[in-house]
Amino acid sequence: EKIHQFRKTLLNWYDQAGRKNLPWRQDQDPYHVWVSEIMLQQTQVNTVIPYYQRFMTLFPTVEALASAPEEQLLKAWEGLGYYSRVRNMQKAAQQLVTDGRVEWPQTMKELEKLKGIGPYTAAAIASIAFLEPVAAIDGNAFRVLARLFKIDADIRLPRTRQLFFEVGNQLIDPKRPGDFNQAIMDLGSSYMTAKNYDSEHSPVKAFNAAYQDGTEDFYPVKSKA
Ligand code: ADE
Repeated sequence: EKIHQFRKTLLNWYDQAGRKNLPWRQDQDPYHVWVSEIMLQQTQVNTVIPYYQRFMTLFPTVEALASAPEEQLLKAWEGLGYYSRVRNMQKAAQQLVTDGRVEWPQTMKELEKLKGIGPYTAAAIASIAFLEPVAAIDGNAFRVLARLFKIDADIRLPRTRQLFFEVGNQLIDPKRPGDFNQAIMDLGSSYMTAKNYDSEHSPVKAFNAAYQDGTEDFYPVKSKA
């Protein structure tokens, strides 16, 4: 019952206050989700927006990306850095095009086989575009889930990701998995940021175990390198 309350509260808030205007949230096209998630991996949302829009004008489809001249691709990426990201995307685009048609794998597991697509990106695409109920665990999700449930596993340890993935998979709304994941992202960049968070006014404060006992500063637990 509590879990249903949480889903309802989170998604109601997302429907009212989520960042609906982000250009990659205008539809559920897997190509749009993919490009945006790759850009957002090392770059802030506000920086990504114009890059994303230009990229979609230049390379509107998977086919266009697959056949783009490399120098045009790198030019479109200039300023974002980590050029291996766009090189891998082109290789994956070429993997997706078979006999002149794009064939998208529709599960997280299959998506992870594509070049440059790790568990986070695979889960984001699978949940947003294909409605698979899998949690997209990035830095935001680590922080939000750690505080909600006072999870003290060290997020620097590789096996901890699996623990958070399982918690997220229990929690995710099976009817709206993509919205749920994006609502967690929006919480993590508004009321539940790393510093200067505002849990007092957060829509999910009643579910935030760390807030309830004033221990948010301890979560997520991350050992020194
Ligand atoms: N950060 C990573 N993925 C995002 C998304 N889909 N929307 C907003 N911020 C994000």
